[in-house]
Amino acid sequence: MKNLINYLKIFLLIIFSLIVSCGSDDDLNVTVIDEEREIPISVDFEVTISETNTFEITVNNTSTGTNGLISYWQFTENGERVADNDGPETHVYAVAGDYLVTLTVEAPDADITVSKTVTIAETSTDNTALKNAANGFSMGMAVRSNRLSGSHNAVLVREFNSLTAEFEMKMDQIYKTEGSLDFTASDIIVDYGVANNMDVHGHTLVWHNSIPSWMNNFSGTDEEFETLVEDYITTVMQRYAGKVRSWDVVNEAIEDGSNALRNSIFRQKMGDNYIEKCYQYARAADPNAILFYNDYNVTFDTGKQNAMFAIVDNLQSKNLIDGVGAQMHISFNFPTRTQIQSVVDGTVSRGLKMHFAELDIRVNPNNDITSLTQQRAIAQQNKAKEVAEIYNAIPDENKFALTLWGMRDSESWLPEFWGQPDWGLFYNEDFSPKRSHEGLLEGME
Ligand code: G3I
Repeated sequence: MKNLINYLKIFLLIIFSLIVSCGSDDDLNVTVIDEEREIPISVDFEVTISETNTFEITVNNTSTGTNGLISYWQFTENGERVADNDGPETHVYAVAGDYLVTLTVEAPDADITVSKTVTIAETSTDNTALKNAANGFSMGMAVRSNRLSGSHNAVLVREFNSLTAEFEMKMDQIYKTEGSLDFTASDIIVDYGVANNMDVHGHTLVWHNSIPSWMNNFSGTDEEFETLVEDYITTVMQRYAGKVRSWDVVNEAIEDGSNALRNSIFRQKMGDNYIEKCYQYARAADPNAILFYNDYNVTFDTGKQNAMFAIVDNLQSKNLIDGVGAQMHISFNFPTRTQIQSVVDGTVSRGLKMHFAELDIRVNPNNDITSLTQQRAIAQQNKAKEVAEIYNAIPDENKFALTLWGMRDSESWLPEFWGQPDWGLFYNEDFSPKRSHEGLLEGME
């Protein structure tokens, strides 16, 4: 008789669990009495949508009586199972829509599931996302392979559609060891871009500041060196063909002051025409890639700007270049609008694409502040607006991307490089947008 009652209980329990697990929606929590554990199991969770990123949700398992039981999330109907760890967890959707969020607890007798529907709205209505505000060009962000998850991911997915590796796609990172290429970090970045439907801008194949140490001590012949460079460019570009849309083939080849070609090892071993050779290798390696020359101070330094356009003209005469990258490492009060406009005019008049690369806006160039003052924050906002206005006014056929050189002030290269505090970027420590972010939006209106 006792067995019959137990069987009846289990039967009723299974029937009840089956009813519950049919995916009833919205605020239903489920309580099942599991006598063997003698603890009532109550399954429920909370889901909220981020106020700063309408594509990001936070879920929190509020179940009771489930200690020791395995539980997992699904953020779409019958979607991938994601382990339920302690505490709240975030998930970022790539596109707007209605999604079924399900929490499953593997109870001793049967899985218990609770589902709730969440609506992810288009952010284009509020246009506080930079990529939605940009007219006819991409919003780029400098990234690192260890900053592509959590809130970094949330901001990237919401606001950006172009990525540049801040340092992990450079020769001194990929070619650390002679004869062996290490694509671990660069693959992470490229795969992230592909998975999130973002353009990847390849930075940079040949740069005097990213030469692996073994190459600086290369003991082979000049011809062997040239073959080594050709093979490197070819191998890297063919690996990423179709995934990396564009490349800075040569970066910063012009000497400050003299405006002559830097006397880099590339020039010493490959000759004065090493730049042309590198662009020939690049064009052959991936004919569909958009090829850029990239340099800094080419707004206000007219000598350097002229030297750059001389290089560009030679490359363009051989159909070896498609765009100019003007690094926008600027300050809140320098260079002027006219100076910035000059590099745009030179690029547009040549029918080339303009990349405002590496934008950061120093607010402490003279080291006269110890924190980001309201006054400097407003000045930075105004400068950001000016840069965005200039870029937004470029003819559509010459637009490419406006790339920010980092996300949070605490992640910028500036303080270490200049040896003094600065707050040159666009997001606060908590990933909230700064005034400079607002300035970009104002400039794109
Ligand atoms: O992450 C590693 C760390 O694990 C290691 O312990 C440490 C010491 O070796 O190195 C760390 O990597 C450094 C990386 O920055 C992250 O901090 C690299 O060594 C260092 O070379 C790298 O510097 C980058 C620099 O280019 C050289 O590649 C900066 O992040 C990057 O902002 C800077 O960007 C350049 C552009 O490519 C070209 N235009 C100028 C701009 C500023 O210099």
